[in-house]
Amino acid sequence: MKMKVTVLNGSPLLDKGNTSVILSPFLDGLKECEAEIETFYTAKLNIHHCTGCFTCWIKTPGRCVFRDDMDMVLESIKKADLLVLAAPVYVDGFPGTLKNVLDRSIPLALPFFEVMDGHCRHPLRNEVKGNGKMVLVSNCGYWEMDNFDPMVEHTKAICKNIHREFVGKLLRPHGPALRAMLEKGFPVQDVIEAAREAGKAVCRLGYIPKELEERVSRPLLPKDKYVEITNRYFEERIREASGEA
Ligand SMILES: Cc1cc2nc3c(=O)[nH]c(=O)nc-3n(C[C@H](O)[C@H](O)[C@H](O)COP(=O)(O)O)c2cc1C
Repeated sequence: MKMKVTVLNGSPLLDKGNTSVILSPFLDGLKECEAEIETFYTAKLNIHHCTGCFTCWIKTPGRCVFRDDMDMVLESIKKADLLVLAAPVYVDGFPGTLKNVLDRSIPLALPFFEVMDGHCRHPLRNEVKGNGKMVLVSNCGYWEMDNFDPMVEHTKAICKNIHREFVGKLLRPHGPALRAMLEKGFPVQDVIEAAREAGKAVCRLGYIPKELEERVSRPLLPKDKYVEITNRYFEERIREASGEA
């Protein structure tokens, strides 16, 4: 049976964003196992925020009071063998539109608590696929890898709560540099190739090997150089915008 993949892409720049520079080859790699991939751009969806009324747990079990695009997202997540969270780091976490989707996913769980490995969580409803997997794909503006720490911890916590196995992460620090260097012909194709290999690895092995994660995250240029180029870029854009050529 084909692997069903649901992708939640939180970049407001959609497939023109820096997130997609890594996400696209990863999904190309996944196509090796003829995965059925459904992508949702959370910035384009019409999804009301969760109001915390718990109607989906009590009065209409499994069904939210709002009829909006979340209905189709939930149908997809319910069946997904693999859930891919793809997003730029925004203020050390997920962009609001993606977090909104995550908040609205509570109809998938039952209200009751169970204790698993000494920790409370909610059982999933019967119609929701259990034992699925999850991958995180992200990029950020700062140079250092530790800018992903909150997002990685968050993703691992989500996995425990929604009964999914965290099978790997593709993290691209100084993400804007990758796109710029690709466009200028710098030798950075190995990073794209590693992302593609990571997709194939999920098909063949069921997880992303550490070595591929490291190749996707490798430093592209020294930190001081990146800071200098970034600052110059913004100084020039500000000067242009103010009419000073
Ligand atoms: C509102 C906002 C918040 C951001 N916060 C962070 C941050 O906390 N840490 C960081 O390294 N980059 C931060 N960035 C930079 C983005 O992660 C970076 O520009 C990324 O390449 C955007 O990806 P995209 O093109 O896919 O949207 C922020 C950008 C925006 C617009």
